Amino acid sequence: MHVIHRRPWALPDSAATPEALVMNRRGLLAGAGALAAGALAGGIVLPGRAQAQRVGDQPDPSASLYPAKRNEAFTLDRPVTDEAVNTTYNNFYEFGSSKSVARAAQALPIRPWTVTIDGMVEKPITIGIDDLVKQMPLEERLYRHRCVEAWSMAIPWTGFPLAKLVALAQPLGSAKYVRMETFKDPSIAPGQRQTWFPWPYVEGLTVAEATNDLAFLVTGAYGKPLAKQMGAPLRLAVPWKYGFKAIKSIVRFTFTDQRPKSYWEALQASEYGFWANVNPAVAHPRWSQASERLIGNDERRPTLLFNGYAEQVAHLYTGLESERLWT
Ligand code: MTE
Repeated sequence: MHVIHRRPWALPDSAATPEALVMNRRGLLAGAGALAAGALAGGIVLPGRAQAQRVGDQPDPSASLYPAKRNEAFTLDRPVTDEAVNTTYNNFYEFGSSKSVARAAQALPIRPWTVTIDGMVEKPITIGIDDLVKQMPLEERLYRHRCVEAWSMAIPWTGFPLAKLVALAQPLGSAKYVRMETFKDPSIAPGQRQTWFPWPYVEGLTVAEATNDLAFLVTGAYGKPLAKQMGAPLRLAVPWKYGFKAIKSIVRFTFTDQRPKSYWEALQASEYGFWANVNPAVAHPRWSQASERLIGNDERRPTLLFNGYAEQVAHLYTGLESERLWT
């Protein structure tokens, strides 16, 4: 008999228990008003009114860069998810393992914020986020986001191609991967006091994936600087992959010839792998990936191969058929 060992960090069996997900979302929406009221009382300005900020934060120095011009090449087959829904339904384990981390995440100071680019590069660099962003061409792109838990959203991200950061770093020819790392500060992030998790959060891409035009470094959403719970001030969007690849609040990019072991792979390698490309035909060990629930309107839709981005990315995986490309 197959025994499932429940671990505290296991992602929920969302598709196997759709009611639980629906209930969770209803509870969430019912709670959103209360959260907004409570958050305002606590000095947090929730998105929709203004960029979420911690009491005492300086005004975001990048605010004047938004909204950035939309790149019309990126279109959606579904409505954009409501900002109020997106900013109150988040996975950010540093601030807790529920979806309701928006309030806790306001404790993250996002200025000053430095980003280090190192490893196998011609130009190692440590740079302040605003100096980095100043060198980058900001644009808005409409992307789908498919979580491994079988829910999805559609988001107007603002940011710049990861390829531009790779160009800045000038990786050596022998560098095959880029390893990305989130901040680590247990005094700020209560989840990081749970020492059985392999902090900091780590993710990785091949350099070929990182330089694909779809790989996008996000600094904003909904026409303004990114809300903290969504991974401010810098997160990844790789929309053909499951959402856990979309690492938040990045502080380091390291170019390497060693395949990075991601946070989720370190926790549960039997369920989460390096590639994590979206494929409706390959089930998660505990639930089907054939369809997804659109957060915001509860519609269920068939999931698409590479989340609908096959034309842009399928060629990256020729010759790799023997790899676990879909977990
Ligand atoms: N990045 C960090 N640092 N910590 C996390 O817990 N969760 C991932 C990803 N990036 C996560 C993270 C998962 S599982 C998903 S689905 C997306 O962030 C969620 O992004 P969202 O909250 O903006 O929808």
